[in-house]
Amino acid sequence: MVTELIDPGTARADIDLDAFRANIAALRGVVGEATLMVVVKADAYGHGMLRCAAAARAAGVEWLGVATPGEAIALREAGDDGRVLAWLYGVNEDLTPLVAADVDVSLQSPDQVSRAVAAAAVTERRARVHLKVDTGLSRNGAEPAGWGELFAAAAEAEQVGALEVVAVWSHLAAADEPGHPSVEVQVAAFERACAEARAAGLRPQLRHLANSAGALLLPQARYDLVRVGIAAYGVEPAPGLAALAGVELRPVMTLRATLANVKPIPAGAGVSYGWVWTAPGRTTVGLVPLGYADGIPRHAGNRAEVAFGAGRAPVRGRICMDQLVVELGPDADAEPGAEVVLFGPGDAGEPTAAEWAVWCDTIGYEIVTRIGARVPRRYLDQGSVS
Ligand SMILES: Cc1ncc(COP(=O)(O)O)c(C=O)c1O
Repeated sequence: MVTELIDPGTARADIDLDAFRANIAALRGVVGEATLMVVVKADAYGHGMLRCAAAARAAGVEWLGVATPGEAIALREAGDDGRVLAWLYGVNEDLTPLVAADVDVSLQSPDQVSRAVAAAAVTERRARVHLKVDTGLSRNGAEPAGWGELFAAAAEAEQVGALEVVAVWSHLAAADEPGHPSVEVQVAAFERACAEARAAGLRPQLRHLANSAGALLLPQARYDLVRVGIAAYGVEPAPGLAALAGVELRPVMTLRATLANVKPIPAGAGVSYGWVWTAPGRTTVGLVPLGYADGIPRHAGNRAEVAFGAGRAPVRGRICMDQLVVELGPDADAEPGAEVVLFGPGDAGEPTAAEWAVWCDTIGYEIVTRIGARVPRRYLDQGSVS
């Protein structure tokens, strides 16, 4: 048993695997024929990669998506033997362990094709590859002028049996903004890339372009497979998108803590570093034992709220590394050990990650993903907790 760095009775993130599976089922209902890839990179957006991956597989998910080779290998080491795609690695990373572990690898250049061919030779296996084209995000992927070279190199390697080109793929820039002009530009570019790949003699089984927002709202971008991350964790890519798609998503993570201290303070007392908040009248404050080291954004200081009792308590003053202060009110009947909920599904009046995103001028993705490794996770699964 690994020692937990925070006692789960003091603070923890509850991960509702029933909600996770329900979200997956709801997304399946929306995307129709397209296959679902559940993206579990970044520790499953903070929810715990291995547990979420296992739950997704148990729900029949054929594909998992990760960013780094290390994430893919961690899945394999945990016994996952399904289809996994890894799409981000450095110029000096050896692709051999991925090919040896039967992980699909994204390639975007003739140089990367050569590296996959070398890995195939060492492992005496065909490397399974997804060719990444840049259709307008200007991030990873071959730019249009380089598609021809990429496809030609891959076709040659496929002919000699070193590679199998499983897919052509790309990533959307602004699918979460309904009506954004980039979507049609990117879909048209993707069509051109797929046609060029065909003309180069490639016959990939899969074309994939859409993330959660694309999967929810853009039938024309779903193609054969959709790569769904945030929506599977029950957080909308942007407020209102689930309703637009007619889908109910349930947030999977609830972040809770118990007050480590409660104290009355007089009018004029400064609270937390810098005294950026001083009590206008006598009041009571509670100490929440989570801070920016645990992923609570420092931007939340003086802005966010937590659920306390039947209502909400505002965060007062700056967020510290390990703790933050909330105001419970002048006549609060609170004892140390009382529970606060920082965010959750919202049905008991607690804030959601989406609300924290507004308070912190960010996106729900960042709120859940940055909840740190120090915070213990507890998994709720069909009535059991582990
Ligand atoms: C290449 C790629 N595909 C899919 C996703 C999943 O996106 P979302 O969480 O919006 O579904 C990500 C996430 O950042 C990504 O980088």
